[in-house]
Amino acid sequence: MKEKEIKEFVKDRYGKIATKEDSHCSCCGGTGDLVEEAQKQAKAMGYSEEEIKSIPEDAVFGLGCGNPTALAELKKGETVLDLGSGGGIDVFLAAQKVGEKGKVIGVDMTQEMVETAVKNAEEGGYKNVEFKLGEIEDLPLQDNTIDVIISNCVINLTPNKSVAYGEAFRVLKPGGRILVSDLVTDGKIPDEIRESFQAWSECIAGAMDKQDYLDTIKEAGFKDVEILKAHYFTEPNMDPRLAGKIISIQVKALK
Ligand SMILES: C[S@@+](CC[C@H](N)C(=O)[O-])C[C@H]1O[C@@H](n2cnc3c(N)ncnc32)[C@H](O)[C@@H]1O
Repeated sequence: MKEKEIKEFVKDRYGKIATKEDSHCSCCGGTGDLVEEAQKQAKAMGYSEEEIKSIPEDAVFGLGCGNPTALAELKKGETVLDLGSGGGIDVFLAAQKVGEKGKVIGVDMTQEMVETAVKNAEEGGYKNVEFKLGEIEDLPLQDNTIDVIISNCVINLTPNKSVAYGEAFRVLKPGGRILVSDLVTDGKIPDEIRESFQAWSECIAGAMDKQDYLDTIKEAGFKDVEILKAHYFTEPNMDPRLAGKIISIQVKALK
């Protein structure tokens, strides 16, 4: 599979999710209400009811695989970067934690997602957030400028994880930290799934073996790489061949 084609497919899917052309709600069987289903999915990934209610409704797409700001120990005044910020769910939660003296920047490569996040920020009156269109493999940011990087179910989508982690290392200040929620694999995934564009865009085909993933973070220069939490990931409509093979991990590391 070619990197460019994967990215175009991923961009197209998330563009349609942002504009609600794609309900991405393959597991809906219930009410079919998008807002309700997205909130339900977000709660299943570790967000509390209070967190969900405290941010703009359109920021919650239920696309994450963890809750990075719950583990990032964000402090007032910190500058935070969210890789693949989508509708802005984690940016808005982080913005509450870093306060008005802090700042949260979201970067996403999908134009429609950035537009949705900007609209959410305007409607919610957020003053300490900024959304940038860009790729996590080529971040539109200066070296050594970020205190904390968060990311939620995005790095598995890039065909070049070493470059993405290299970029994260470059923009972090020395002593800075990352707190990433992501999917990794445990055991062999059928080739047919690995080669499916749809499975890439659903965060499965690009997921790396757990140990290779941790090694990639270390090779980018990070130290104290640690899995804070992990659980086997499942969805009602998941291919049965993936049972017990996909893990959601919450990884912390330091520069
Ligand atoms: C699964 S969604 C997660 C969105 C958000 N983090 C959340 O939890 O709701 C993945 C997001 O990452 C973005 N994305 C995927 N690959 C990217 C890349 N290489 N560079 C920047 N953004 C990317 C997509 O456009 C999409 O908005």
